[in-house]
Amino acid sequence: MTDARIRLVVLYGGRSAEHDVSCVSARHVLAAADPDRYEVVPVGITREGRWVLGTQAARLLAAPGSALPDRLEAAGEPVEILPVLHGSAPTPHAGAPTTPPDTATTVVFPVLHGPLGEDGTIQGLLELAEVPYVGAGVLASAVCMDKAATKVHLAHAGLPLVRHVTVTIDDHVDRDRAVRTIGDTLGFPVFVKPANMGSSVGVSKVDGPEGLAAALDLAASYDRRVVVEESARGREIEVAVLGNDDDVRASLPGEIVPGADFYDYSDKYDDGADLLVPAPLDDDEIDAVRELAVAAYRACGVEGLARVDFFYEDGRSGHGTRGWLVNEINTMPGFTPISMYPKLWAVSGLEYPALVDRLVELALERHARQLRHRRTDH
Ligand SMILES: Nc1ncnc2c1ncn2[C@@H]1O[C@H](COP(=O)(O)OP(=O)(O)O)[C@@H](O)[C@H]1O
Ligand SMILES: [Mg+2]
Repeated sequence: MTDARIRLVVLYGGRSAEHDVSCVSARHVLAAADPDRYEVVPVGITREGRWVLGTQAARLLAAPGSALPDRLEAAGEPVEILPVLHGSAPTPHAGAPTTPPDTATTVVFPVLHGPLGEDGTIQGLLELAEVPYVGAGVLASAVCMDKAATKVHLAHAGLPLVRHVTVTIDDHVDRDRAVRTIGDTLGFPVFVKPANMGSSVGVSKVDGPEGLAAALDLAASYDRRVVVEESARGREIEVAVLGNDDDVRASLPGEIVPGADFYDYSDKYDDGADLLVPAPLDDDEIDAVRELAVAAYRACGVEGLARVDFFYEDGRSGHGTRGWLVNEINTMPGFTPISMYPKLWAVSGLEYPALVDRLVELALERHARQLRHRRTDH
């Protein structure tokens, strides 16, 4: 009997600061994938970048009450990551035992967050392997991982943003001049961030010129391009977006109420912040932010899924009144039970297992569409 199930390769772990989050996300994706529809193959990536077939992890998962190890070290045998192109498998020589062709449809779900996972690099490898994968393609992943590039795309589409400057910090930069320019252009406080990062890593809030040079250096230790933004004074609202092309849907919005001065790393992962799902907003506000979320998604060419994050200066808190400002787009948002993305879909009528099904469908749809375009010379 042939197995008509889809082989779902869940790639998890990874080399970024979000390794642990990815492991927790993957555990829940694995648990939610319907075994009648999917043959799930977990593949872990250690912090050092070693790929391991998660057979041990899968076995642990199958036993009742157990969990995947949060760390992947020693989790299984190494995996070759050379791409296997469709139809180009070596032909067995005459007389060699033949194995039946492997006809299972494979879809890769890269549940990887941050650099070297969510930034187009893994997506590039999967393109080379010609395998369908969940989420945004190479360009959109790279654009959304880079906060400076995201802003260029969003601004080009006329979307509202905080005022900002992008500086390249290298040995030739006159730091004093950079500090003066930023102060003159934006005033204080400002947020200083590496262009290419996530999870609030390297992000600082700076209240005056004296703290700026250190914040620039900290951000520049992650990426030579640094984005400096004026401080938004509103609420933090997030929208889950799902779809390809002209069939893109936005969830109800949710709200982050940071426990700390801002939504920093410990707030995100040690449960410091409160998530209000759905966000307390009126119908007009909800319509407006959903529309903006889809527009931002399209402006950056995203397909599959993304969480679009906003600041909302509604004036009610006695601060600014500029309304909606797009902050950033995350093309592989967290999938843990306390993560905003699945929570937003659940409250919008799409439960976690159905969300996984839809993501796989979107991956296959996008791949089939790509095959209609010639990318090689034959
Ligand atoms: N311009 C800003 N104004 C106000 N708060 C900000 C600003 N930029 C960032 N923050 C705070 O810092 C957090 C992390 O910044 P963000 O740009 O979302 O980076 P990351 O990709 O690391 O999540 C935000 O959730 C918010 O709490
Ligand atoms: Mg963020």
